[in-house]
Amino acid sequence: TDDGWPVISCPATSDALQAASRLLRAGKPVVFPTETVYGLGALALDPAAASQIFSTKGRPPDNPLIVHVSSHAMLRRILPKDYKTSKLCDLLIRRFWPGPLTLLFPCDATVIPSIVTAGQPTVAIRMPSHPVARALIAETDAPLAAPSANSSGKPSPTRAEHVLQDLGGKVDLILNGGPCDVGLESTVVDALHEDGHVRILRPGGVTVEDIESAIAETYSAPSTRPRVLVHRRDYQDDAIEKAPTTPGMKYRHYSPSVPVSLLYTSTPPPPDQTSMSASSFFTTLRDASGSGIPLRIGLLVPDGSQLLRIAESTMDLECVHLSLGPVDDPAVSAQRLFHGLLSLEQEGVSHIVVEEVREVKEGLAFMNRIKKAAGEAFWVNIRPTEGHTPI
Ligand code: TXA
Ligand code: MG
Repeated sequence: TDDGWPVISCPATSDALQAASRLLRAGKPVVFPTETVYGLGALALDPAAASQIFSTKGRPPDNPLIVHVSSHAMLRRILPKDYKTSKLCDLLIRRFWPGPLTLLFPCDATVIPSIVTAGQPTVAIRMPSHPVARALIAETDAPLAAPSANSSGKPSPTRAEHVLQDLGGKVDLILNGGPCDVGLESTVVDALHEDGHVRILRPGGVTVEDIESAIAETYSAPSTRPRVLVHRRDYQDDAIEKAPTTPGMKYRHYSPSVPVSLLYTSTPPPPDQTSMSASSFFTTLRDASGSGIPLRIGLLVPDGSQLLRIAESTMDLECVHLSLGPVDDPAVSAQRLFHGLLSLEQEGVSHIVVEEVREVKEGLAFMNRIKKAAGEAFWVNIRPTEGHTPI
């Protein structure tokens, strides 16, 4: 590129893959596309290589990494000798690999360096479905530890451009695979619990509904069926709350450099909150800037949102609008969230406003990320006539 960064474009030419693979084998991290988000990969079984992931991202050392494999044979190579996966685990692997599902396995500490697991007794493993990711791991013939390729705390990159903007000078090579299909990270699942139920540690690309229906097909008797438990919704674990093992619980996450507000427009406020009109939200936001010049804000809202109309009819408010897609298509909203935050930040807006989406299917992961990214949440009323200036 003009900046001198060697960006190699996909379609995945064998030259690009071999260059990336050579760097990996030399112990260097490289950035590669996956179906979820871009990953910053390094040899998982080489502690010196894995440690460069932490320094490149500024990642706290107590936050463990996901190990990526390209085949079942590679999985077997890193699991404890003689370890037999459970019926439940086999089902999840058969149904969702390759794909955006990460599973916990017991960790063989003689194989997986402790820097990768942050000393946990388990290791998180996934088999990505993106052809470039799979080809890179297969070509390197070694599992890759890979977190999202962003500076710690920032939104995860879903395009090579996002990685350039954030980690540009810090990595030797970025494989460009275009925009990621899923746009949010993999679902992190603990299916090792002795009670036999599935715990969702981080909602993601594979939905709770997908997992429930896969289980229902295999376990025909409802009484024997493992349940799918979502942290904070179906169970509360104080140890998890304080530990870094629950993604994003302990550290600030997914935030662009401009303030983000989450607006609830359908969910009623909890008992300790009150709601306000959407127009007073926008006038308060404008007045708080105190600059006297029009305030430029970014709006990330579903198609047909009343919020957009109300914001646009607020005096001295300039709106840059990005669509989250149809209101009933959470997969599209999920795919656009990080790109929306990052491109509004690039546009130079001084505040980003995101409207809630329903917490069904991919909407659960969307809301999980935006709740962490947003500094503040507000409950607003959007009566159809409100704030509307008839012409
Ligand atoms: O989609 C994805 O999973 C992407 C792409 C690149 O594959 N990767 C990703 O990695 O999101 P990262 O590091 O940003 O998130 C991994 C999460 C961490 O937040 C960590 O807490 C959790 O997985 N994790 C890793 N090992 C764990 C373990 N042994 N127990 C519990 N959670 C674990
Ligand atoms: Mg991440």
